[in-house]
Amino acid sequence: MDPIILAIESSCDDTSVAISHGRRILANVTANQQIHAEFGGVVPELASRAHQQNIVPTVEAALKRAGIDRQALSAIAFTSGPGLLGSLLVGSSFAKSFALALEVPLLEVHHMEAHILAHLIEKEGQKNPDFPFLCLTVSGGHTQIVRVNGPLDMQILGATIDDAAGEAFDKAAKIMGIPYPGGPKIDLLARGGEPHKYHFTKPKIEGLDFSFSGLKTNFLYFLQKEMKADPHFIEREKAHLAASLQSTIVAILMEKLTAASHQEQIKRVAVAGGVSANSALRSALRDKEKQGAWETFLPDFEFCTDNAAMIAIAAYYRWQAQRFARLDQAVEARKTFGG
Ligand code: KG4
Ligand code: ZN
Repeated sequence: MDPIILAIESSCDDTSVAISHGRRILANVTANQQIHAEFGGVVPELASRAHQQNIVPTVEAALKRAGIDRQALSAIAFTSGPGLLGSLLVGSSFAKSFALALEVPLLEVHHMEAHILAHLIEKEGQKNPDFPFLCLTVSGGHTQIVRVNGPLDMQILGATIDDAAGEAFDKAAKIMGIPYPGGPKIDLLARGGEPHKYHFTKPKIEGLDFSFSGLKTNFLYFLQKEMKADPHFIEREKAHLAASLQSTIVAILMEKLTAASHQEQIKRVAVAGGVSANSALRSALRDKEKQGAWETFLPDFEFCTDNAAMIAIAAYYRWQAQRFARLDQAVEARKTFGG
């Protein structure tokens, strides 16, 4: 019988709770934290406190939305890392107590593996890739190309050696005076701009690894120089700047992804993580499919940024493999992939 799993995601600044039945999601409720925008980034201490306040009402809201009684739950799942330690502790402590009280098994999930496995959620209109497929995972903390051989068998082919793609968006936005998280705002601004108006540095990194810190520095120095000559430069050019920056980041990602597809001879390509919501990246990936290069898999918007539905689907595969967590399972800020 398919398990009914309650899953908790609390690795960063959103408290999210989902209920799944097999590979279907019955509820996916997220409480966003607004408090961080005024600080220009996530403040870990404030994030943990907000998780404390949000977790009980979010769990209750998810159960209500799914129409599931807590006694019907087969297991409780939580994100064990990577992420902010204090935030992870809130989610894991709640999950452990809940599993103990209900006398049901506990499942622990790797945040980045979950972003990838969101592609296996069964939903009308969402096509699921067959194995093996390649997944570009791009979030605020990670940039990786992963070869996915099976739900519990993933191999990192390349990763960033410095900043993550989401971080590149956020830091460039900050330089332009746009509050955190800057990625979605750059995306919106870019829609009214010319993507080839300005040219920024593309790194020369061997193999399938990425680097974004050079681009950030190049962007900063360029703006400093232009602002000296014209203090209104950013204000006047912000749409073109956003579009040009975005097209550079997308070009860097697409170049490596294309090389990975050739190297591995895999023609199923997925994208996951917060940056997979980016409209320019999505359209570049769709173009590849139109050109016949590969079949593209784009997650639904609700499964792009941090959410507990992805934790629930990852937990489902652990349940199937009978890989349960112990009550003394520790959370890890820098959890290694593929464990
Ligand atoms: O996966 P996620 O929600 O959280 C992490 O695990 O990091 O990713 C958040 C990141 C942030 O850097 C945010 O700016 C970026 O994803 N992001 C975007 C867009 N939506 C979210 N970046 C570019 N375009 C977007 N539309
Ligand atoms: Zn994430």
